[in-house]
Amino acid sequence: MSSSIKVENLSFGYHPKECILNDVSFSVAAGQFLGIIGPNGGGKSTLLKLLLGLLEPWKGSILINNTPPPTPRVGYVPQAFQFDKYFPITALEVVLGGRARNLSWAGRYSKEDREAAQTALARVGLSHLESHPFGSLSGGQAQRILIARALGSEPTVLLLDEPTSSTDPSAEAAILETIHSLQEGMTILMVTHNLSAILSHVEGILCVQGGAVMLHPKDVCEHFALGLYHIPLLETPKDHLTHHKKNPS
Ligand SMILES: Nc1ncnc2c1ncn2[C@@H]1O[C@H](COP(=O)(O)OP(=O)(O)OP(=O)(O)O)[C@@H](O)[C@H]1O
Ligand SMILES: [Mg+2]
Repeated sequence: MSSSIKVENLSFGYHPKECILNDVSFSVAAGQFLGIIGPNGGGKSTLLKLLLGLLEPWKGSILINNTPPPTPRVGYVPQAFQFDKYFPITALEVVLGGRARNLSWAGRYSKEDREAAQTALARVGLSHLESHPFGSLSGGQAQRILIARALGSEPTVLLLDEPTSSTDPSAEAAILETIHSLQEGMTILMVTHNLSAILSHVEGILCVQGGAVMLHPKDVCEHFALGLYHIPLLETPKDHLTHHKKNPS
């Protein structure tokens, strides 16, 4: 079962006089795949942290399946996960970390936890790397292991923050294929700077730059898909289309 997300008039800043997200409203239906784009510092990662309940909104509301965050069963793959390559931990142990909240008082994972972690590894197509040291994996494989880790809590919502940012194009394609294969039964929100790579997979594109505007993939012009933010993102989609009729690009 996937979840729906409803954000209404959300405002937030880290410091009292500096608003980072201003009056953001959007909704995502259960099972949809939403791309989140926008310039550096626009507030994309901040928005995901608000959805996770790691930050408290100044104003407005967030509902995930009619419940305010923190909501159980929301998986998260953070931006630029830092990891000591020499730390001796296997791929399976990294995935098991996603079930840490289930740990017994003795700090041991149950058989059920191991099975869930193995299922998550299979879902990202990396069962064969189960006992490999995490530090020996390629960037793309490591990123897919981190996705499996986020699947460990059996989420109905998956939030991914630039999961392909440090990978080459072939690894990126494998990661996107993995994410796409997870879409059934899950609502997915993915921050990316590579809009053209996800355009054919997503049902909506949320442009975040202080505020937020939802676009339909068919309304995204070629320049935009290439990451050239040449129009103010905060024009309404209707204005945006009119603008393009007047000034075809
Ligand atoms: N913990 C923090 N404390 C204070 N300011 C912060 C904090 N985290 C982020 N910011 C500021 O909030 C703004 C939005 O940051 P955020 O990380 O959400 O942007 P982003 O859209 O994810 O950018 P990028 O594309 O570079 O990842 C930036 O100006 C950033 O400096
Ligand atoms: Mg970010």
